[in-house]
Amino acid sequence: MADIFRITAPCHFGMEAVLKREIYDLGYEIDEVDNGRVTFTGDGEAIARANIGLRTTERVLINAGQFEAYSFTDLFDKTYEIPWDKYIPADASFPVVKATSVNSKLFSTRDIQSIVKKAVAEKLKKSHKVSNLAETGVTYPIRVNIIKDRVLIGIDTSGVSLHKRGYRQISGEAPISETLAAAIILLTPWRKGRTLVDPFCGSGTFAIEAAMIAAGIAPGLNREFTSMEWENIVPKKTWYDVFDELRDQVNFESDSDIQAYDIDENVLKKARLAAKEAGVEGMIHFQRRDVKDLSHPKKYGFLITNPPYGERLEDKEKLPAIYSSLGNAFNRLDSWSAYVITPYEGIEKDFGRKATKKRKLYNGMIKTDLYAFEGPRPPKKQRNEQ
Ligand SMILES: C[S@@+](CC[C@H](N)C(=O)[O-])C[C@H]1O[C@@H](n2cnc3c(N)ncnc32)[C@H](O)[C@@H]1O
Repeated sequence: MADIFRITAPCHFGMEAVLKREIYDLGYEIDEVDNGRVTFTGDGEAIARANIGLRTTERVLINAGQFEAYSFTDLFDKTYEIPWDKYIPADASFPVVKATSVNSKLFSTRDIQSIVKKAVAEKLKKSHKVSNLAETGVTYPIRVNIIKDRVLIGIDTSGVSLHKRGYRQISGEAPISETLAAAIILLTPWRKGRTLVDPFCGSGTFAIEAAMIAAGIAPGLNREFTSMEWENIVPKKTWYDVFDELRDQVNFESDSDIQAYDIDENVLKKARLAAKEAGVEGMIHFQRRDVKDLSHPKKYGFLITNPPYGERLEDKEKLPAIYSSLGNAFNRLDSWSAYVITPYEGIEKDFGRKATKKRKLYNGMIKTDLYAFEGPRPPKKQRNEQ
């Protein structure tokens, strides 16, 4: 029987429910949902599926152990208890690549890294019955996360973080992360077949992620993962099978209407290039357009967007005019819904209406809100057609 692992997937704070649904849709049982991460159970195939298929997690970790530690002795002893030889072969290298600590007794991340490294090494020597670990083989990167004295030790199966899908080589000035864009889209009632417009598209992240969702393109189809080298955990054949299966699910015959506008022709060029890399350029209509000229003939569409917010791109004084233009355009769009992620607090005033929902989200280091201005639900007939 295949080995079963606890697998932890970190996500943007506030997006746990979206990630939980994604994991559930892949067919796995959820074990635990914490702030900023979801843990589930699965075998090597689950590791491959999660890496290639999940849109809203940053990485996929084998959850090697979770415990409380109030001293370095605790940390050493409890790390040592983990059956490391089940995961890490005798010749493998196992760098402790990252440690984070929040509100905990143990706070020196360098010391945390070196204690964990030592405990893993001692245990591996004992279990593999060797006096030296060459560390010349495949790499199994270890990550340690401590929050309020609760330690999670994970082995990183992804490597380069999963928001790097491989389609965005060059980006606009303030791109939203691919995982956050996907999570926002999946949070809304937008589904394939429906209309989506991003009037401030920049490098096109929302439009590209939506098109990939509509075409059923798994986000990791065009990249590699650290655990592709781990024959003891995910056999090569499993990777090939999962890649093949997910490639077969791609279907471009979606009648989704996805439009992406920006005032800047240079960023549009980059967006078109990224859409081409992602294989969805035929599904998105890119156009240079000022937000004040925004219109659309259809009903029940969705504006999903990340407008300028002053810090990095525009002067703060310009913001009321830009947000009022967006609000005016939105008010002309009969029966539409708008989802706007921004740290700019004047948005409701400039829109002349209150958001129906508001939730706090971090866009990188920037504290923002996602404002939902929800329109009416499509009538039943139209919903069935969509
Ligand atoms: C925060 S960025 C959007 C980033 C985008 N979400 C991405 O992933 O790259 C805001 C964008 O709004 C565009 N913009 C600024 N003023 C505009 C206007 N009046 N009409 C349309 N686009 C505008 C800028 O050129 C910029 O690309």
